[in-house]
Amino acid sequence: CAGIFPLHMKFTLRRPDDFHVHLRQDADLPAYAREAARRFARVLVMPNLAPPVIAAVDVDTYRKAILADAPGLEPLMAFKLLPRHTGAQLRALKDAGAIAGKVYPEGVTTNSEDGITDLRQIWPLMGVLEETGLVVCCHGEKPGVFSLDREERFLDEFAETASRFPGVRLVLEHVSTAAAVRAVRSLGPNVAATITLHHLEITLDDVVGGMLKPHLFCKPLAKRPEDREALREAAFSGDPKFFYGTDSAPHHKGKKECAAGCAGVYSMPVALEGLVDVFDRAGKLDRLEDFCASFGADFYGLPRTTETVSLEKASWIVPDVTDGVVPYRAGETMPWKLAR
Ligand code: NCD
Ligand code: ZN
Repeated sequence: CAGIFPLHMKFTLRRPDDFHVHLRQDADLPAYAREAARRFARVLVMPNLAPPVIAAVDVDTYRKAILADAPGLEPLMAFKLLPRHTGAQLRALKDAGAIAGKVYPEGVTTNSEDGITDLRQIWPLMGVLEETGLVVCCHGEKPGVFSLDREERFLDEFAETASRFPGVRLVLEHVSTAAAVRAVRSLGPNVAATITLHHLEITLDDVVGGMLKPHLFCKPLAKRPEDREALREAAFSGDPKFFYGTDSAPHHKGKKECAAGCAGVYSMPVALEGLVDVFDRAGKLDRLEDFCASFGADFYGLPRTTETVSLEKASWIVPDVTDGVVPYRAGETMPWKLAR
C-alpha cells in the first residue's frame, strides 16, 4: 500500500522496521526508544550495553525496560553471541524471545573488548543456531587490520561460514564497501545485509576530508565514493538481500567532541525523513517500502507490518542537539517531515 500522492505532497508507506539500532540503557533509554517509536514499528535492538545482553534473563530485563519506556515500539531482541555460549544457553535465549545473536570482532567498536578475532570461533555453535533459527548478525570488520580494509578482510571468513552452514541465516551489518555488496550478492539465500542512512550519503571525505566531523565518525568508517555508489545501487535495486538498519548509535555530545571520541552516528531523529529524501532525490521512492518495511521482515521470517506512516513535503530544521546528542544532519533543512 505504498502510495505517492504528488498533489498533496504526501508519501505513505507501511510502518518500517529498523533491523539495527542502539537504544542504550538506564537514563538514556527512554528518549532514544521514544524517538525510534515515532518512526518504526519494530527495531532490532543491539546488545552492546555495559554489561552486555548475553543471557536469557538480560533479554527479558532489557525488553521490559524498552516496553516500559516506549509502549507501541516492538523491540526485537538480540544478544551478544560469544564462543563460550552453550547450546542450553542459546536455547534459553531463543525461548526468552531473542531472534538474533550479534557477533562483535574484538575491539573494533563501542563495548566490543570481549569480541572474537575470527568468525570461525563460533562454528561449534552453528548446529544449535540452525536448530533454533537464531540469526547471526555480524559486525563485519577484522580486528588488527588497517581501518579502511577491515571490512573487506572480514569477507573471506564470512563467505566461508555462510557457505559451510547454509542452514544458518547471517546478516552482514551496516555494509560500507562495494566488496561487501558483491560478497552478499554472490552468497546464498541464507545471507543478507543491512545498510544505514549515513552510508548511503557520506564518504570518508565528509568525516575527515575537510574539517574533522566527529558526529560522522562511525564504525565501519564511511569509505570511497565508489563504495557509496555500490551501497546506493544495492538499496535502490529491489534486491531483497539488502534492507534498512539505521545503526543509530547515540553518544552524548561530550563523548564525541573530545580527544578520544566514540564511534556512532545518531541518525534516529532523521531516520525516515532522511531515507525518504535519499530515495526521492534518486527517483526511487517506489523502492523505499520494500527496503525499509518488507525485505528485512521477510528475511527474519516475521510478518510484514500492517500499519502505515506518512511523510509530507514540508521543510524543518534538524536540532543542533537533542537529548544531549548531536544528531545526524544537525542544523540542516530537511524537505520531508513526519506527518501527524
Ligand atoms: C555503535 C555503537 O556506538 O554502539 N557504533 C558505531 O560506530 N556503529 C556500535 C556498532 O554498531 O559498531
Ligand atoms: Zn551498530
